[in-house]
Amino acid sequence: MRHLMSPLDLSVEELDRLLDLANDIEANPSRYAHSCEGKKLATLFYEPSTRTRLSFEAAMLNLGGSVLGFSSADSSSAAKGESVSDTIRIISCYADICAMRHPKEGAPLVASMKSSIPVINAGDGGHQHPTQTLTDLLTIRSLKGRLDNFTIGLCGDLKFGRTVHSLIQALIRYPNVRFILISPEELRLPDNIRDGVLRKNNQDFREEVRLEDAIPELDLLYMTRVQRERFFNEEDYIRMKDFYILDREKMKLAKEDMLVLHPLPRVNEISTEVDDDPRAVYFKQAQYGVYVRMALILTLLEVEVC
Ligand code: CP
Repeated sequence: MRHLMSPLDLSVEELDRLLDLANDIEANPSRYAHSCEGKKLATLFYEPSTRTRLSFEAAMLNLGGSVLGFSSADSSSAAKGESVSDTIRIISCYADICAMRHPKEGAPLVASMKSSIPVINAGDGGHQHPTQTLTDLLTIRSLKGRLDNFTIGLCGDLKFGRTVHSLIQALIRYPNVRFILISPEELRLPDNIRDGVLRKNNQDFREEVRLEDAIPELDLLYMTRVQRERFFNEEDYIRMKDFYILDREKMKLAKEDMLVLHPLPRVNEISTEVDDDPRAVYFKQAQYGVYVRMALILTLLEVEVC
C-alpha cells in the first residue's frame, strides 16, 4: 500500500506515467467512468478548501466511486479532542482511500502510519501540497510540452506557500530548470528549501524583490497569494498583502509565450484584467487538477483500466 506525502514519493518515471494517464483521462473520460465503482474516497479536511477537496470529490465521482468526509475540524470529532491517529483508524473502516488536509505539518504522515488505506497529503500547514504539484506539472507539460529547459519565476509568499516548496522539490529533478525567487525580504523561501534543496542540488537560482526585474526572462510565472492564515499578526499581513499585483502593464514586459500559473485562491495578486490574456492559465490549471487526481486515485488503488 502506498501513500502520497510529497511529490518525491513518486519517481520521475512513475510521475511520467501518472501524467500520461491524466492526459488519457482528459482525452477519453468515458473509458474511466466506472473504474472505481464500489470504492469510496474520504476527504478529511481540517482546514478550508475549495479546489483540492472538491476536485478530489469530482475525481472520485468521475471514476464511478463515491465520497464521504468532513470539511472542517469543527464538524468532526477533532472538536472533541480526537487525535488524527484515532480518526484514521476509524476512516480505514469506512473508505478505501483518503485525502487529508491539516494545519499541522506532518499530520497526514502521522495518519499514514496508522492507516490501512492509502493516505494522500492534501496540504499540511506551510510544508507540502503534493497534489497541487501534480496539477502544476500536468499543466506545464500539457501546455508547454516539456518539464525541462525553462526559467520559472516563483512570486509572492515563498515562506509560507507550501505549493512552492513542493513544486521546487519536483522541478529540480528535470534538466536545465532555472528558478527566480521573487518575494519581499520577509517572505523569502525558507532556508531548508533554499539551502537544503536548491543549493544542495547545485540548482541555478537567484532572488529578486521586484517582479519587473524578472518577468522579461520568464517562461513560466507562478504567482502565489500571501498566506494570511499563517501570519502571526494582522498588521504584517496587511503590509505584505498587496506587495505584488500582476496587471496588464507588467504582462507587457513578459514573453509572448510565458504562462501565468497560480494554485488559487487569488486575492489581489493578479488583477482580473489579466484573466483574458491567453497566457493566463490558472483556471485551466484547476481543471487539470481533476484529471491528475483521477490518475492518482487509480494509481494508489492499483486499478487497471483496459
Ligand atoms: N490550490 C488549493 O489548494 O486551493 P484550495 O485551498 O481551495 O484547495
